[in-house]
Amino acid sequence: MNAYEIIAPPTGALPARARVETTAGVLSLDGLWRFAWSPTAETGRDPGDPGERWDEIPVPGHWQLYGYGSPAYTNVRYPFPIDPPHVPEANPTGEYRRIVRRPEDWDGGRVLLRFDGVDSWFEVWVNGVSAGRASGSRLTVEFEVTELLTGGDDVLAVRVHQWSFGSYVEDQDQWWMSGIFRSVALLHRPEGCVDDVRVVAGYDHTTGAGTLTVEASSASPVRWKGPDLSTIEPWSAESPRLYRVEVSTDAETVSLDVGFRTVRVDGDRLTLNGAPLVFRGVNRHDFDPQTGRAVSRERMERDVALMKQHHINAVRTSHYPPDPYFLRLCDRHGLYVIDECDIETHGFALAGWRGNPSDDPAWAEVYLDRMRRMVERDKNAPSVVMWSLGNEAGWGRNLAANARWTAERDPTRPLHYEQDAECESVGVYSRMYPSYDELAAIGRHEEPELADPERDRCRRALPMIMCEYGHAMGNGPGGLADYEAVIDAYPRLAGGFVWEWIDHGLGDEGLYGGDFGETVHDGSFVIDGLVLPDRTPSPGLAELAAVITPVRLGLDGVDLVVENRWSFTTTEKVVFAWTAETDDMVVDEGVLDVPVIGPLSSQRVALPAIEGSTLTVTATLDGSVLSCVQRVVPPAPPVLGTLRPARPQRLGPFPIASLTLDSWRAPIENDRFPGRGNTVSLEKRWRDAGLDQLIERTVEQREDGTWWRRRCRYAPPGLDSGFEVEYRWATDGEALRFEVDIDRLGEWRIPLPRLGVALALRTPAPGSVWFEWLGLGPGESYPDSRSAVRFGRHGMTVQDAQTPYVVPQENGNRAGVTRLILSNPEGDLRIDGDHPFEAAVRPWSTAQLERARHAADLTEGDLLWLHLAAGVTGLGSASCGPPVRPSAEYRAAQARLAFTITG
Ligand code: GAL
Repeated sequence: MNAYEIIAPPTGALPARARVETTAGVLSLDGLWRFAWSPTAETGRDPGDPGERWDEIPVPGHWQLYGYGSPAYTNVRYPFPIDPPHVPEANPTGEYRRIVRRPEDWDGGRVLLRFDGVDSWFEVWVNGVSAGRASGSRLTVEFEVTELLTGGDDVLAVRVHQWSFGSYVEDQDQWWMSGIFRSVALLHRPEGCVDDVRVVAGYDHTTGAGTLTVEASSASPVRWKGPDLSTIEPWSAESPRLYRVEVSTDAETVSLDVGFRTVRVDGDRLTLNGAPLVFRGVNRHDFDPQTGRAVSRERMERDVALMKQHHINAVRTSHYPPDPYFLRLCDRHGLYVIDECDIETHGFALAGWRGNPSDDPAWAEVYLDRMRRMVERDKNAPSVVMWSLGNEAGWGRNLAANARWTAERDPTRPLHYEQDAECESVGVYSRMYPSYDELAAIGRHEEPELADPERDRCRRALPMIMCEYGHAMGNGPGGLADYEAVIDAYPRLAGGFVWEWIDHGLGDEGLYGGDFGETVHDGSFVIDGLVLPDRTPSPGLAELAAVITPVRLGLDGVDLVVENRWSFTTTEKVVFAWTAETDDMVVDEGVLDVPVIGPLSSQRVALPAIEGSTLTVTATLDGSVLSCVQRVVPPAPPVLGTLRPARPQRLGPFPIASLTLDSWRAPIENDRFPGRGNTVSLEKRWRDAGLDQLIERTVEQREDGTWWRRRCRYAPPGLDSGFEVEYRWATDGEALRFEVDIDRLGEWRIPLPRLGVALALRTPAPGSVWFEWLGLGPGESYPDSRSAVRFGRHGMTVQDAQTPYVVPQENGNRAGVTRLILSNPEGDLRIDGDHPFEAAVRPWSTAQLERARHAADLTEGDLLWLHLAAGVTGLGSASCGPPVRPSAEYRAAQARLAFTITG
């Protein structure tokens, strides 16, 4: 039997303990190590060999990202047979070497070697003598090496196997990547040091007093210093007030940042310090496009800053404890955390959960050890408000035992685990990707009954969260505002966590499953974040920020309605300003006198009487916009003289290369899946109806006194349904008039991706054409994703109007457009709509967009594609969750577009 196939917790490891700052010595071992890679576990290398001539590799890092083997991506399915605890003979193995020297000033005491993350199984030697073995890729482990160090140059050897019995419980939806990917350090533990410390800092919201319990273990007498409990301010994500607590012995002082807060499940409410705790959260994996799960501090800081800027107040650390530095950032900047254990056995679902480790006593110790290592490491973090037993590991005795142990060890935090479907062990009812109706039913305590009436009664009484919703794959998610409305309506619903924060595209190219030649993979399912791999916010993130804003503005008749959705903060620092604009010129503006609104309250405020102008009200905090509301008065369309027929060859400076009906889009990833409750995807329905291959036939072309008319039919091969379209052109001598009537022919039961026209216009460098419009912007918008945009005059290059989704797909639609201007060095083209329309301008065609697999496949030619539509279908969340809601489907049987064109 290979050691890495023995189901066992680490051997030679010390009991888990809290992460603290210390005055005792810490020597980082991060940096370049010697490295040798072998395709199998038998490396033939001697642990005593210092590897002086081997290659070098950075620690932390994954060897697959430095040219040894390749990353591979699977979601659910194990890339090896389900034959626990065995793994393939082809078990890539990395041999790491480094010289260490015990610092001279580390007098007496013990020396430990700490690993914060090694994927997946490893053994450690010092000068060829084994110090221990461990697995638990995202968990900290410490070994004692005191007796093994000589004081001179010692050879530290680590052998890491890619696959082990541990891989069976680490089947998270992510890249399989191996090696020492988090920091390594040598720690001095002086005689009489503080072995461990636990601080419980509570807050009594009825008296305003803090409570503090400090437990420390040491062989020496311990003293501690902390804040005066009668004057403390509580900790929350809104106001992350921290206090220093120092625990000392004569040998060591450790310090912690403590936040006073009390989390409770109070009937069907989740509360923090007595106020509702509503998660406006995201799921976050550790990820960096260049270094995988080895994430620099700067990246983590950027993540937290971006989350705070976008009003996110919570993170579920899917699906394992994060780098410990991330939690410190959450403590400091204010994010509620569900800290999740490194356990997922999802692939067993494909085998009917037969042999699931979660219910196999042979795995009990391994499970408990994993939970313990998370809870002990992170127990003092004020940001951690809940422990999660893991993700998608089915249900079973080992998870139940982990829940019991945790509840006893830390009764101050509720437990979470989505697959404890009957809520046997958890403090909150948790669901993934419920439909709107299911969520509302749960909000009303009307979810379907459990077989056991007692279980049903208990579960029905609990608060509920969505540990995942709003699948952010590709262009989307749509429908976030609808979720928020349901959450708002029912106090039982304590919010949720969008899936997920980052697209896991690797390298500059944004590589995804299959790009490394994997035979078993799940393609682009790993590209489902709110930020692109380099952390560029996607339109989905802007939408989320607008939807979850803490200060929401609405219009009700002539009044403004301001809702303060903070649980602890007043609107004292929020500035409410208004502007009135006519034809995009500001005609008047002012600041509103809004009384200070307390947490979780609303106020109605009279607005200045403005007529004939677009009124915009914004709420800003420290210069950044929290919320905006508008009453839009579109500009009047230009007035034309007497019309006579025209047959234009060019529009402004742009020769027309083609004009066709446009009822297709490069499918977004949500189009590719049926979505919850559906059996057929939109893409399939659209392709079955032939929308992607319409054939044009000109029925008639003629002139009458006013118009040059062309009537066409568009229908797919083999079908008799389609469209009849009339294009009409005229001029008054100055401006062009362009009208289009579209009728659906035959029987239609499907929504349309879009309905309008596409013009190919000839121009050099179409990406650098300047695109300006009066309408919703500046970002893209679709019927179910338009909370983040506002009516106004926006401008950018055509290139900048494209959203560079990692997987190319429909993007860049601008809704509510009334005027559009395109300029190249030769001049301007201006298009005014009689009615607001949808516009997308691209330096490539829909067909090119559809064919491209990666953003870099898209290159511009000499055509600018202008898509003008009467309507488009929304985005939905069908890649994992509900399809586009009927309200966001475009189903019109007839459409008219009418434009005045100048230039
Ligand atoms: C969930 C799972 C996530 C992710 C998501 C789909 O079931 O917990 O890890 O796989 O589906 O992207």
